Amino acid sequence: MTSSPAPQLHPDVQPFVFMLGTWRGRGEGSYPTIDDFTYMEEVSFSHVGKPFLAYTQKTRHGETGLSLHAESGYWRFPAIELVIAQPTGIMEALSGDFRPNDSGGRFEFTCPDVVVTDTAVRVDRTIRRFTFEGDTLTYDMAMAAVGEPMTHHLSATLDRVVP
Ligand code: HEM
Repeated sequence: MTSSPAPQLHPDVQPFVFMLGTWRGRGEGSYPTIDDFTYMEEVSFSHVGKPFLAYTQKTRHGETGLSLHAESGYWRFPAIELVIAQPTGIMEALSGDFRPNDSGGRFEFTCPDVVVTDTAVRVDRTIRRFTFEGDTLTYDMAMAAVGEPMTHHLSATLDRVVP
């Protein structure tokens, strides 16, 4: 494809311009069925002039540096919806709400029916919360999975490294 001019931000995405860029940081994970772990993470939000932000995420193990979880998807506005696919065969369609703060805001999403492929591990429901405050992004994630009730799995803090 030939290169084209940079698109203008879609008006539905304008209130969420504080998300754009690349973010890096560290997180901690746990679940009743696994050993606790730490991880390094990079997240990017970008736009193409349409009413969504493209989202990519990749992580590495905090001690070994080996690739760990990755996922990608789309944040859809103005509805506050999020679709995420994982290479592990897990897919989430999340609905959320948004509360603005002085320099960003807080999203809280729930997915009542996680879809998994035939060979994926069982995940039933998820909750994801993200707080943007200036150049800091914190999030946490809980899931009902592998027969366990809704239980914390992840929390992380990232800094914006590229606007
Ligand atoms: C930052 C993102 C994430 C990281 C770094 C991460 C990391 C891990 C690690 C290290 C394990 C231990 C077993 C293994 O190595 O596979 C694990 C297990 C698991 N994770 Fe995650 N995970 C992430 C996100 C997610 C998400 C978004 C989901 C579901 C929507 C999920 C679902 C699971 C499940 C179902 C297990 C298996 C538990 C079991 O077999 O008992 N993870 N995760």
